[in-house]
Amino acid sequence: MSNRIRCDRTPAWAALRALYDQQGRNLDLRQAFAADAQRHACLSLQAPHVFADLSKNLIDDAIRAQLTELASQCGVTHHRDAMFAGAQVNRTEQRAAMHWLLRQPAEGRNDLPPAVLAEWAQVQTVLDGMLAYAQAVREDAAITDVVNIGIGGSDLGPQMAVLALDEFVDPAKRYHFVSSVDGHELSAVLRRVRPESTLFLVASKSFSTQETMTNARSAKAWFHAQGGRDIARHFCALTSNVQAAAAFGITTTFGFWDWVGGRYSMWSAIGLPIAIAIGPQRFRELLAGAHAMDQHFRTAALAQNLPVQLALLDIWYRNFHGFGSRSVAPYHSGLRRMQAYLQQLEMESNGKRVDEAGQPLPYATSPVIWGEPAANGQHAYFQLLHQGSDVIPVEFIAVRHVAHNLPEHHHKLLANGLAQAQALMLGQQDAGGHRHMPGNRPSTFLLLDELTPTSLGALIALYEHRVFVAGSLWGINSFDQWGVELGKVLAQAIEPRLASGDTQGLDASTAGLLQRLRAP
Ligand code: F6P
Repeated sequence: MSNRIRCDRTPAWAALRALYDQQGRNLDLRQAFAADAQRHACLSLQAPHVFADLSKNLIDDAIRAQLTELASQCGVTHHRDAMFAGAQVNRTEQRAAMHWLLRQPAEGRNDLPPAVLAEWAQVQTVLDGMLAYAQAVREDAAITDVVNIGIGGSDLGPQMAVLALDEFVDPAKRYHFVSSVDGHELSAVLRRVRPESTLFLVASKSFSTQETMTNARSAKAWFHAQGGRDIARHFCALTSNVQAAAAFGITTTFGFWDWVGGRYSMWSAIGLPIAIAIGPQRFRELLAGAHAMDQHFRTAALAQNLPVQLALLDIWYRNFHGFGSRSVAPYHSGLRRMQAYLQQLEMESNGKRVDEAGQPLPYATSPVIWGEPAANGQHAYFQLLHQGSDVIPVEFIAVRHVAHNLPEHHHKLLANGLAQAQALMLGQQDAGGHRHMPGNRPSTFLLLDELTPTSLGALIALYEHRVFVAGSLWGINSFDQWGVELGKVLAQAIEPRLASGDTQGLDASTAGLLQRLRAP
């Protein structure tokens, strides 16, 4: 940890500033391709299960080399190795960040430090138990509905993965995800299920999150009111707070550890809905894909290391070009919750304004992450991407082979993805007025051969490590989330006021809104 150096305190940072002024600011992608027939080949990287074309980004060899030098000078490799050694890289909470251990196979375990090896053994015990349980639920024809009650990391990963892996999902059961405390969500699901055929999974690392506990209590009350008796069969808890789950009355529990961050937890017991949906073997493939990316991140040279290179682009765009957001454009409808997943992963991890030592940062950190499955996005906001006043880097995610039997659809989809990336870069320079498109708008193109548990695991681990590297360079702790606490505390204070009407001491806006909400 002591080897970490904040990005702005390195010689490479100053060198990058000079490079930006000399050639970065005005780099023209069209000229860069015309001048270098090898640009696509040189600026492409193959990581496990993910190919990345970085060539439509606003970089050249000198910039890329200097960015890589920045990663080296900041001590990213030491920081990475500290995380993989089980050090307390989450310093504000005095915790390790060992989500990678959840996908560590038996092979290679003897290289783990002894304390981590002991944790690994526990991971295997829970994993085996959880997968046996998942298999039993799959074989249980009487269970037709699985309802996951959880929010944030206890919802987004499982939901995203179950949708993405639909091809592998057992169609005999339906999967529901209830996250918000908005009662519309839970009641819509409860209208469609019956107590004797429903399994409720209460997923919460802390087992204290207001939304989840409110939904869990209401689900349990509904279950009893509908004549449900057997809580042990119909309720299962996924949590690191096993005692709280027991106090709630749930006896079937799969645990995990404080060193698994909520947004990094889909590989743990939180992944149970995925395991039920796709089965134990496929769940192990998901873990294996992620592990392959872990190995790439741990061993590839910085210049060939895809998470590192993507993070460096993030820094280049955020801190030198000043771009405030990145749009994610998955050209696969199965990835339709990907951007929501990435919003938590990236913005909860790196949406920070102080460094690890608590000092205010003199530069910007996480961009806003947003997007839609892109065929829809094209007919909505792509106008702004092409002609809006802001430059927004776009990340395309495409899949070569698909599961359906409609080849014409797939060709059209891919053609659209390629064309959008091309149009962003080329623009329409010869047209004037409203038809003019400036072009030179950067994009990254990520390509999977197929969307399988293995490739999805690799893709998600790629993003996890990219976020780690960006946070490492920015000098922040990517593993805490203190910024979400204040709103939770204030909501607790406001809730009784909604009932009582007491507005004393409130700011005038909150008081006025509260009175309006209470008006008959
Ligand atoms: O409020 C944010 C957060 O703490 C996330 O980090 C987390 O994923 C989510 O709430 C849910 O937390 P839990 O799994 O403890 O219910």
